[in-house]
Amino acid sequence: MFYQPKDGHGLPFDPFKAIITPRPIVWISTLDNNGVPNLAPYSFFNALTSNPPMLMFSSETFKHSAGYARDSGEFSFSLATVPLQTQMNASSGALPAGENEYIAANLEMAPCELIAPPRVAQSPACMECKTVSFTQLKDLDGNPINTFMVIGQVVAVHINDEYLVDGRFDTAAAQPLARCGYRDYAGVSEVFELMRPTDGGEFTGVDR
Ligand SMILES: Cc1cc2nc3c(=O)[nH]c(=O)nc-3n(C[C@H](O)[C@H](O)[C@H](O)COP(=O)(O)O)c2cc1C
Repeated sequence: MFYQPKDGHGLPFDPFKAIITPRPIVWISTLDNNGVPNLAPYSFFNALTSNPPMLMFSSETFKHSAGYARDSGEFSFSLATVPLQTQMNASSGALPAGENEYIAANLEMAPCELIAPPRVAQSPACMECKTVSFTQLKDLDGNPINTFMVIGQVVAVHINDEYLVDGRFDTAAAQPLARCGYRDYAGVSEVFELMRPTDGGEFTGVDR
């Protein structure tokens, strides 16, 4: 089939999010203006660059996480995993402002070191971020759309030592949870290694 999104896809459900998969799911944690913790899962999330480490998440409609990350200038993200899928799902419920999703989703808060928002204690890895940009996206005609992108720079990283094996983060053991389309999810429980032509047969830690 072929379609142009402006004309509609003609399918029972939009395939866009089922094609761009797997998308990492993270919990974005912020503090509201009264200092109450806020938590929600995001899958329009990804790394943008590694030196310095920067990442983005985007909010379809103006939601609490984006607003608080803009206003306070800080947010943490915590990796969502297959074993934490029930808590992840529970934390996506739209609670009124000022209600703490950590409590509603039965998750524990752990303190961050350099920023005020907490992080998810049970998560194998969390990063502390400072907001470097907040942008309302525009379409091809230059019209603002109802989506807001937050870019953050990572200022601190927490890794549960259980998931460090021979100096490497054990992705398969952590089982990151990924968003697919519709109500589909995937879990990473296996990885394989593929050397680049320039690696000389061994990974040296330098990506080019
Ligand atoms: C797996 C998963 C991924 C999600 N990803 C996004 C996303 O990338 N962008 C978004 O706007 N909402 C996303 N949502 C919905 C938000 O989590 C939900 O609207 C939440 O209530 C927002 O909370 P907040 O207002 O505290 O930010 C996702 C929900 C789930 C379950």
